[in-house]
Amino acid sequence: MESNRIQNLKNQAISSILEAQSDEELEELRIAYLGRKGRITQLLKEIPSLSPSERKEIGQLANDAKNAIEQALADSKRAQVAKEIDIDKEWLDVTAPGKRPSVGHLHLVTEAIQEITTIFEKIGFTRVAYPEVEWDWYAFEGLNMPENHPARDEWETLYIDHLENKKYGHAVLTPHTSSGQLREMKRLGKPPIRMLNIAKCYRRQSDVSHAPMFYQFEGLVIDKGINITHLKGTLDYFAKQYFGPNRKTRIRPFHFQFTEPSIEVDVSCDICQGKGCRLCKQGWLELGGAGMVHPIVLKNGGIDPEKYTGFAFGWGVERVLMMKAGLKIDDLRLLYTNDLRFLKQF
Ligand code: DAH
Repeated sequence: MESNRIQNLKNQAISSILEAQSDEELEELRIAYLGRKGRITQLLKEIPSLSPSERKEIGQLANDAKNAIEQALADSKRAQVAKEIDIDKEWLDVTAPGKRPSVGHLHLVTEAIQEITTIFEKIGFTRVAYPEVEWDWYAFEGLNMPENHPARDEWETLYIDHLENKKYGHAVLTPHTSSGQLREMKRLGKPPIRMLNIAKCYRRQSDVSHAPMFYQFEGLVIDKGINITHLKGTLDYFAKQYFGPNRKTRIRPFHFQFTEPSIEVDVSCDICQGKGCRLCKQGWLELGGAGMVHPIVLKNGGIDPEKYTGFAFGWGVERVLMMKAGLKIDDLRLLYTNDLRFLKQF
C-alpha cells in the first residue's frame, strides 16, 4: 500500500468536507470515509496483514488521516451550526448591563390641569365638565351677548354647519369655558356654587401665544354676600400657589358683557423678567379676565340677583403654564407639536 494513496484519500476527504453545504452531506462523507465500510476504516482493517516495517509507517499515516478527517468534520459542523443560527447576530452577553425601559410621563398640559385642580379643590371648588360642542345661548346669548353683538368678534368662533336648536341657537365649538357658568347654575338650581370648569376651547387663531385648540379654567362662586374682595383673595391665593411668591400680579379695569365690574389680571413675565420680549411685548402677560357676575347672567341661570351675588374668572391653562417659573417656552404652539425632543425636557 502506498503512502501516497493514503495522502490522496485524506486530501480528497477534506476538500469534499470543506465544500459540503449541509449537515446531511457531512454525514454522508463521514459514512463514506469513517463508517463501518468507509474507505479509511477499510484501510485500517488491512494494516494487520502488512509486513511489520510497512505496518508502522502505514498505520501511522492511516491514523493521521482518520484524525484529520474527524477534525475537519467537526469544524465544518460547527461552521454549519453557526451559519444556521447566525451566531454574530444572536450573540447574547449575559453580563452586559440591562437597558432601562423608557418611561413616559403625563403631558405638560395634563400636569398643569391636575395642579390647578388641586389648588382650587383645596379651597372648596368642585371640578365639572360640560360639552365641547355647545349651543350659542350658553356661549354667548345667555352671557349677555345677543346675536350680532360686536363683543362676539373677540371670540373668533367656529360654528358647526347644519346643527341648530330652536331655543338655544347654533351649535359652536366652545370658544370659552364661561358657557359652563350657565350650565352649572341650571344644574344646581341654587347657590352655594363653587365651580371649576376646565375644558378644551376652540378659536380661529394661531400665533406665538394662541393655538386653535387650547384649555381654559373657569371659576364661578355664587352665594349670599359675595363681593370683589373674595375675588381678589382667590386670585392672590392662586397666584401664590401656582407661580410662587416672586411673581407679581396686577389688575386692570376691563369690560366683559357677562361681568360688572370686569377686570383683567396680569402676571410679570418670567422669560424677560418684566423687560419686554417676543412673547410678552411689555413685561406683563395677560392671565385672563374676571369680574362680578352680571345680574342678567344670574337671572339667565335661574338665580335671583337680588338675593345672590357672585364672581367669575376664566384663564388659559397653557398661558399660566408658560408663565410659570423655569419654563422658557416662547411659542405656545410647541406644546401641541408632539415633538418628543421638546416634551422629554420636562
Ligand atoms: N371668557 C372670557 C374669555 O374667554 C374670560 C373671562 C372673563 C371669564 C371674565 C370670566 C370672566 O369668567 O368673569 O376671554
